[in-house]
Amino acid sequence: MTDQSVEIAEITTEVDRLAAEAIAAAEGAASLAELKEIRGQHLGKKSPMGGFKAKLGSLDPEDRKVAGQALNEANRAVGDAFSTAESALGDAARRRQLETERLDLTEIRREAQRGHLHLVTQARYRLEDVFIAMGYQVAEGPEVETAWYNFEALNIPDWHPARGEFDTIFVNLGEPEEVMLRSHTSPVQIRTMENQEPPIYIVAPGRTFRTDTADATHLPAFNQIEGLVVDRGITMADLAGTIDAFIKAFFGAEVNTRLRPSYFPFTEPSAEFDISMPDGSWLELGGCGMVNPQVLANCGIDPEEWQGFAFGFGIDRLAVMRYGLDDIRELVNNDVRFLRQF
Ligand code: PHE
Repeated sequence: MTDQSVEIAEITTEVDRLAAEAIAAAEGAASLAELKEIRGQHLGKKSPMGGFKAKLGSLDPEDRKVAGQALNEANRAVGDAFSTAESALGDAARRRQLETERLDLTEIRREAQRGHLHLVTQARYRLEDVFIAMGYQVAEGPEVETAWYNFEALNIPDWHPARGEFDTIFVNLGEPEEVMLRSHTSPVQIRTMENQEPPIYIVAPGRTFRTDTADATHLPAFNQIEGLVVDRGITMADLAGTIDAFIKAFFGAEVNTRLRPSYFPFTEPSAEFDISMPDGSWLELGGCGMVNPQVLANCGIDPEEWQGFAFGFGIDRLAVMRYGLDDIRELVNNDVRFLRQF
């Protein structure tokens, strides 16, 4: 063995040793930053491995080839070790980041306050549902009406005392007392009969207005729901049965209804209807009756062929009863602490 070959053997052994050291160091790195530092120490120009590269130039060609090969192999092995360590450390870092930046959406859902419909809207939708189930359609009309729809066609001419009882809020438009905020939902009866051939089965919920001052039992803007049926052979029994059916569907089967004779210009005969309270007393809910033949005629419907019944009542008052409120104004105060309970 020549001196040269001794030297080459020493070089390759030394290269292998340095490579093993570098690989072990790379595998032991705790972070990407540490890995970068280790790479500098083991592979950089000033590292022992880097030093060998510089030494290659001084070897004779044969030895340079052997030493160069050893060095290349060592470099590849060390390079592989560093890439493996780098991707492992990178994965770990990403996992840690995901863990710390994670949004717990279940927690947000738990914290978020979810709103719900106002209890009057809930009552209105439930009433609509009850009537839709009975085959009715939902009709609507404008909140600002003319005297024809709010009064005249409903058989309330301007000299009629009933006109004053509606405490109407007039709008300053056209002739005096010609345009008004509707004081009941009954004008939707007229609009429906003008536009639709019988048979007619509709309910018309909506806002209504009167000059009432707000107190525990009154609101100047309130909600009514109107019912209108026009068909052949309709009798008072159909009216009584319908009222009883929807009240039971709304309040429960234990609640009873009764009709008391009353007067409305647009129904004949007319009645007020009451519902039974748990204490045995009766509570007035609304008005009803057989559609006055004059009203049918006003809408171009032949009263000899068609008969009808109609009813109307306050949705707000219904909500007051259903939820046992002691002041109807709670419905419009919009205090969320109150509304949240329903
Ligand atoms: N429109 C009447 C009111 O507001 C109620 C009613 C409707 C009465 C339909 C009879 C028929 O008081």
